[in-house]
Amino acid sequence: MFYSRKTLEIFRNPQHVGSLQNPDAFGSAKSLYCSDYAEIYLQISKGLIKDAKFLTNGCCAAIAASSIFIDMIKTKNIEENEKLTKEDISQALDHLPLQKITCSLVIIDAYKNAIEIYLKKQR
Ligand code: FES
Repeated sequence: MFYSRKTLEIFRNPQHVGSLQNPDAFGSAKSLYCSDYAEIYLQISKGLIKDAKFLTNGCCAAIAASSIFIDMIKTKNIEENEKLTKEDISQALDHLPLQKITCSLVIIDAYKNAIEIYLKKQR
């Protein structure tokens, strides 16, 4: 199993790690495949993600995926972000090993959880 150079670099120096004080949305998810877990904190204004942080307890792929996922969602519309897939994350990381592609689902699921709770509160 070989990680791309980009995945390893991001894993060694992940960005956006931490939490936000008074986030507009918070979500979490546990991996369906292992014990890994992710939390995401979002600042949202007029449907746009203004800021985001994550805390992921997981493997190299899960950490790198979480970091790059935050880059991908920031300044974008919440609905647009919900279309992002594990394949999009893999591509952004110059391809995750096939058996590690599902590791990015933990941050995607945390995001979906945060948005679901956020949208319920808005109604
Ligand atoms: Fe658990 Fe990668 S092995 S998320």
